[in-house]
Amino acid sequence: MGVFIGIGVGPGDPELLTLKAAKALKTVDVICIPKSHANKPSMALGMVKGILSERKKPAEMLELVFPMTKDDLNNRKLWVENAAIVASKAKKGNVAFITLGDPMLYSTFLYLYECIKETYPEIELEIIPGVTSVTAVAASSKLPLAEKEEVVTIIPSDLDPAKIEEAAKHADNIVFMKCAFRIKELLPILLKSGFTENSTVALVKRCTLSKEKVMVGKLSEVSGWDVTEDYFSVAIVKKSQVPIHWKQNGSCKA
Ligand SMILES: C[S@@+](CC[C@H](N)C(=O)[O-])C[C@H]1O[C@@H](n2cnc3c(N)ncnc32)[C@H](O)[C@@H]1O
Repeated sequence: MGVFIGIGVGPGDPELLTLKAAKALKTVDVICIPKSHANKPSMALGMVKGILSERKKPAEMLELVFPMTKDDLNNRKLWVENAAIVASKAKKGNVAFITLGDPMLYSTFLYLYECIKETYPEIELEIIPGVTSVTAVAASSKLPLAEKEEVVTIIPSDLDPAKIEEAAKHADNIVFMKCAFRIKELLPILLKSGFTENSTVALVKRCTLSKEKVMVGKLSEVSGWDVTEDYFSVAIVKKSQVPIHWKQNGSCKA
């Protein structure tokens, strides 16, 4: 019996793949590639192509389609079908599932993982963490996610606005996933929740990829930003204008 391994391949730049992920990708028997549509290319696969070209014997590549819909019944049917395919392969060898960023954060992997854990308890499970878009976006925008006692909250930006408002009241810094154009719709909610026009905001699209776009400014400037939709975007919004250690200890300049 083989192992089913969830591998986080990072946010985009192949150099952000971990050594452990690279090692597993070079040795597993089967690699599952999640796709939102059969005819769409897989971004995760694009990120590991270089590593896969170093293999002595190619892995079996298994495309699994997970449409991005909120149709729970149809989705469940697909997870069950895909879990059965993975289980049949795992009976004969090690199977990896590549996923963007980290497998434990809003990943398609989680549905399959839970399904396999429940239905095929005999299969050993392993997770190799990846650099998540959350930390990659903080690095690209050079905005710290949290310092000292700050509370950082991660919110999918398509959440019910009332829930966003409530969560925002208790957060010092917020990471909004799937953000892009929604950043403008979030402005009034943030202003009602203790954020101000001077709060700092960063919007990063296609982080660490060749078409990366980083915008950093104040909340008051966001309405003037030219923001086009892009699924691969994350925003960080910070209540404070400047790093808090500067506020407490003065600036680094003497
Ligand atoms: C299904 S979630 C996957 C999150 C992923 N597991 C992670 O750890 O980053 C997809 C969301 O992640 C974010 N994302 C993933 N990769 C990104 C990138 N390279 N640049 C910007 N956002 C990204 C976007 O907000 C996107 O809508």
